[in-house]
Amino acid sequence: MAGPRKIIIDTDPGQDDAAAIMLALGSPDEIDVLGITTVAGNVPVALTSRNARITCDFSNRKDVKVFAGCEKPIRRDLVTAEHVHGATGLDGPELFDPETPLQPAHAVDFIIETLRNEAPGTVTLCPLGALTNIATALTRAPDIAGRIQEIVLMGGAYFEVGNITPAAEFNIYVDPEAAEIVFKSGIPIVMIPLDLTHKVLTLKARVDRIRALATRPAVALTDMLDFFERFDVVKYGSDGGPLHDPNVIAYLLKPDLYGGRMCNVEIETGSELTLGMTVVDWWQVTDRKHNALVLKDVDADGFFDLLTERVGRL
Ligand code: RIB
Ligand code: CA
Repeated sequence: MAGPRKIIIDTDPGQDDAAAIMLALGSPDEIDVLGITTVAGNVPVALTSRNARITCDFSNRKDVKVFAGCEKPIRRDLVTAEHVHGATGLDGPELFDPETPLQPAHAVDFIIETLRNEAPGTVTLCPLGALTNIATALTRAPDIAGRIQEIVLMGGAYFEVGNITPAAEFNIYVDPEAAEIVFKSGIPIVMIPLDLTHKVLTLKARVDRIRALATRPAVALTDMLDFFERFDVVKYGSDGGPLHDPNVIAYLLKPDLYGGRMCNVEIETGSELTLGMTVVDWWQVTDRKHNALVLKDVDADGFFDLLTERVGRL
């Protein structure tokens, strides 16, 4: 049996990002988190870095290496989402000054050096926020593209359309130029869009199951989810809100929970009206090259079974 899969989580915590980090850290036999790199997105990078460290403390994993990354998109001003995640970016549980240290190296340098030091094709990148760090690393060190096993990212939308504008999903919208670099890189990509994550709702019964674990990590996570879902419940009128980012990790752990198809995906970077839109040729009406496995189907109950079981191990 192969050893645990080596990953770098690139993230903008973010309550749903924190859920993804907990799922990964609760699965040490299958996943080896080489490092967590933070990026500006939901909140500025100083806060996403603090929140990543707090999440490692909650997870009883103060050994995890956390690196702060880019503080703004490649070309544009930063757009944040405090209206969803709260002023801290991790509203819900009582927060504290984390003990998990912040590493001195920049996130982009850590990504480049790790990919150069690890065997080619053995490291998976798991972006959960804007793609600024990833695109900056690829631009600064083109040699790493051929060394990346796969990029499994949460971002984009097609039939579900946008959540930050009528056309765009937040992670892509924050840095569309970065997304264009990644989707044109030729690196194998698995794209987990809103079309999938909007089927993964934090129904009360599901959240209650996690809370019933009655451990510090589980209580912290459910406090986060209770806060995080309120915005989407009002917006979509649903029972619970979509839980986006942990689907990236769940896909690595149990890919059979998911379904989709190879497609061409292009990023709108010119039009202000549709900036950041992921134009997915789902019906194959063009001869554009397939550059991403776009996922659409998910066994949501199976996902929550997995999340609950692994958070229970922390
Ligand atoms: O659009 C949802 C995505 O944007 C999630 O990754 C959420 O954490 C925010 O980053
Ligand atoms: Ca995120």
